Amino acid sequence: MLKSMPWSSGPVACDPPADGPLKDGRLRSDSPRDRPETGPYERDVPVRTSQSTPFARIGRDPEESTAVTHPFLDLAPLTAAHFAAIEQRVARLLSTEQDVVITQGEALLPLEGCIRGAARPGTTALNVITGPYGQTFGNWLRDCGATVIDLAVPFHTAVTAAQIDEALTEHPEIDFVSLVHAEAATGNTNPVAEIGEVVRAHGALFMLDAVASVGAEPLLPDAWGVDLCVIGAQKAMGGPAGVSAVSVSERAWQRMAANPQAPRRSYLSLLDWKERWIDGGRKALLHAPAQLEMLALEACLERIEAEGLGALMTRHATAAAATRAGALALGGGLEPYVYEARDAAPVATTLRTPPGVDASEVVARALAADPVLPLVAGGGALSKEMIRVNHYGADATRGVVHSALAALGGALAESGLTVNLEAARRAVTDAWS
Ligand SMILES: Cc1ncc(COP(=O)(O)O)c(C=O)c1O
Repeated sequence: MLKSMPWSSGPVACDPPADGPLKDGRLRSDSPRDRPETGPYERDVPVRTSQSTPFARIGRDPEESTAVTHPFLDLAPLTAAHFAAIEQRVARLLSTEQDVVITQGEALLPLEGCIRGAARPGTTALNVITGPYGQTFGNWLRDCGATVIDLAVPFHTAVTAAQIDEALTEHPEIDFVSLVHAEAATGNTNPVAEIGEVVRAHGALFMLDAVASVGAEPLLPDAWGVDLCVIGAQKAMGGPAGVSAVSVSERAWQRMAANPQAPRRSYLSLLDWKERWIDGGRKALLHAPAQLEMLALEACLERIEAEGLGALMTRHATAAAATRAGALALGGGLEPYVYEARDAAPVATTLRTPPGVDASEVVARALAADPVLPLVAGGGALSKEMIRVNHYGADATRGVVHSALAALGGALAESGLTVNLEAARRAVTDAWS
């Protein structure tokens, strides 16, 4: 059947697949977020339709085109100016004056790029381990020939500025510090403002993994003396996973430029972006950008600007506090995995199941009741004892927290445990009011 599609000027032969992302020209959404309690947070995002959008290729005559088209296809190339404008919006989100590079891959790309750019034989790195990513950084640092001093803390706590200060005092030769701000995988968050002061006083280069904190809690790389701040949009920002970004201080650029083994002419190279994109006046991109991901990043930045970064962070903090309070009220032996509320990350709340109750089974039962709930069991060895409730972007709402706890309560009750759904409901409502 021929029908005119919103992204073209005339009829073309195509019918979006029934289960495709579109319903009535709008992106389909069948998530718990559409439950009435989701309140103000609109989930349905209209597809841009006017000819002047990046979706449509100007002057294409649909009559000539026999190919089936789709909103994700046939995109006009992203211009350097458009790319630079999106970078500027990321810089505003981070309130940074430093250079920002949007890297064309998930956050592990700039994280590895930072470490391989800055570390070399002769580097002494303090690698803080508060979750799985700290372990990864240590491996990359050693691979670069650096001497690595690991500072590991139990995953149910956070590291303190005093612990880092002690390590730096003990090892004055340390010239690089790597830290994860918030760990979605373990649910803890670290006091970066205080830690930044200690690291700056010591003079080491400071790399921060802020993938799971950006959008969920305050993140001020300039004020905190962060030289390399890596973010991903797929968590609290509610954006795409296929692109990421890093802010780079002048000191960090100098450290990389002085590093003979820093990647160059390589997809891992941050220096290539510096020398050919930034110093080139942001006129020529290094390679074809990931259009869809870049447009999704732009859309999520637009949505954050519309809601307000402060409101977005408040919503995450409230969702985390409500989940923690609701879980305690629910009972059934469920308790917060991170002992102190101040150490609990707003991006995701981790819960410990009672002894003998397999967390992955509880999650499986809860998802059987409601497959779209943002519930996962802990990774690896934590899969038996940890349940994670993600509060990513549109999931940071009262409705989703209610639904998640109700499903967990039902699953725990199925294992013969006594739970109090009403008390959990009240605790969530109180936390939100
Ligand atoms: C703290 C942290 N760092 C890094 C990553 C890796 O991000 P990505 O999956 O985009 O590579 C994640 C992803 O979960 C994360 O939580």
